[in-house]
Amino acid sequence: MAGNWKMYKTAPETRAFFEKFAPLVERSEHCEVVICPTYPSLEVAAEATEGTRVEIGAQNMYWAKEGAFTGEVSGPMLTAVGVKWVLVGHSERRQYFGETNETVLQRTLAALEYGLKPIVCVGERLEERESGNTEAVLVAQFREGIARLGSEQFAKIVIAYEPVWAIGTGRTATPEIAADAHRALRAQVLADYGKEAAAAVRILYGGSVKPDNVKTLMAQPEIDGVLVGGASLDPIGFASIVNF
Ligand code: PGA
Repeated sequence: MAGNWKMYKTAPETRAFFEKFAPLVERSEHCEVVICPTYPSLEVAAEATEGTRVEIGAQNMYWAKEGAFTGEVSGPMLTAVGVKWVLVGHSERRQYFGETNETVLQRTLAALEYGLKPIVCVGERLEERESGNTEAVLVAQFREGIARLGSEQFAKIVIAYEPVWAIGTGRTATPEIAADAHRALRAQVLADYGKEAAAAVRILYGGSVKPDNVKTLMAQPEIDGVLVGGASLDPIGFASIVNF
């Protein structure tokens, strides 16, 4: 169960969140809990969650180890402050910051190289769904952005299916729509990595997940977890999602 805070919360607000949130998920042994704050709050978040069940993720990273890349942050810089996970290829990165399937792959490879666990995001835009291209888009994102990983590398990633039209819109995919997309992705995993990988890979659903719809989403056997934006900002609300 992962929370993506996007560009919200200062470091003091981050600290205040975890004081409330960490005790509420102390016994949530059914899942892993990950929160992805902004870069300046990562260290505070990692300190505040030390010794708890909560792990910290970054929302992005660059693939080089270091160098003249003004404004970028590398994998070793993230692990040095206690970060364990990283979101890769979120649709807002694709939409506003020129992320492509190719850069998704480069970031994923770098994340794995530096010991971070990538949550690789895929998902179709509204016009792609309406023109009947959902599956083709997902398969292309998978084939171009993920499928060049070796089997051992693939075993370490988590996939997040986030239909762009459902993000921040209050318009959640129905559990059936989400499950269909998850099935298409899993079929692709089967084709490229085989049976065991298809059974083992975790696919999260993201897009307007809230405390009151998480249960029906998680009731779908295809949905292994959720990636939550807006509703992860409130400690009580996100704890109730984690403990659905
Ligand atoms: P949302 O965002 O839950 O606010 O729709 C999901 C995401 O972007 O990961």
